Amino acid sequence: MTEHARGVSPGRVNLIGEHTDYNDGYVLPIALGWRAQVDATGRDDDAVTVSSAQLGDSVHISDLTPVAHQWWGYVAGVVWALRQRGHAVGGVDMALDSHVPLGGGLSSSAAIEAATVLAVDALFGLGLSPADMAEVAQAAENDFLGIPTGPMDQRASLWCTEGNALLIDCRTLEPRQVPFALPADLTLALVDTHSPHVLADGAYAQRRASCHRAADLLGVAALRDVTDLDAALEKLGDDDILVRRTRHVVTENDRVLDAVAALEAENWNRFGELMNASHNSMRDDYEITVPTVDQAVTSALASGALGSRMTGGGFGGTVLALLPTVALEDFTARLQDDYAARGFDAPTVTTTTACPGGIELRDRA
Ligand code: GLA
Repeated sequence: MTEHARGVSPGRVNLIGEHTDYNDGYVLPIALGWRAQVDATGRDDDAVTVSSAQLGDSVHISDLTPVAHQWWGYVAGVVWALRQRGHAVGGVDMALDSHVPLGGGLSSSAAIEAATVLAVDALFGLGLSPADMAEVAQAAENDFLGIPTGPMDQRASLWCTEGNALLIDCRTLEPRQVPFALPADLTLALVDTHSPHVLADGAYAQRRASCHRAADLLGVAALRDVTDLDAALEKLGDDDILVRRTRHVVTENDRVLDAVAALEAENWNRFGELMNASHNSMRDDYEITVPTVDQAVTSALASGALGSRMTGGGFGGTVLALLPTVALEDFTARLQDDYAARGFDAPTVTTTTACPGGIELRDRA
């Protein structure tokens, strides 16, 4: 064991493929420049302490058991998940410093979990594989904190690489790096709508439950297995909710694969069309958008965006807009005006490229 180790891992945006991950489908995230950092130092006893630079708070935990709604759970949950799997992880002091915006649908929690597993792996010399790390980080969220998210976020944070989007087949959990290098005349803008999304409330779990019910009724393991959409929708009959949820998931999966083909062909117009179709499907069929989010998309398209869509779990958070670089200023001004006219809190616009993921950062350190 070394004395001290550091893990650093980023937030992510999903370019396309929303609510497909827990249906064994496809997702296509990129890593962001905002990162969480965890410094881990070994202790002589078995206790775990966690401090947060942002909160100015710290906790001492001598008995690790699953708990909901605790800020320190994203860190301590990783130690718990490792011990559950039989890894020799002793007591540890962990100092968290995260710059991933909270509640923006940018996987601030997965960034913390990923940074923690990188730090603890290095501190105790566990030699975890990238797949093990992702599994443990996800278990901290699902099993320690009880938040029923899918497999995308922790893998995005850990496995993304600079200049690439990460295609994940969420059935096999196999990653594929897909070049994502915007030409100079295009910009990927991120709009923080300042309407925080909340995954711990019931809506996410409800969507998940509807998908599983639809898959059961259709006699498939997961909605990913639906090959004839019309026949499936007919079979679901007049259950309008299940029809819409299924249509979103099945068409969204196709859109991810089409988006990969568009990226490979550097066909940005097509990529933009797919973003728009994805947003419309989330708005009309999956019903997870809110007025602030829809307004950001409308403002982006009015400013000449090739495509625009909400990213992440939904009900607020962040909107992506693929814009001609020359239109960025106009978009920002228009968005501020449109938001003010509707009485929404002022949004924030930033831009991003495909940044390094956690493992890549560690390898460089
Ligand atoms: C959240 C979850 C992910 C995924 C997205 C929707 O970010 O954490 O697992 O389900 O929502 O695509």
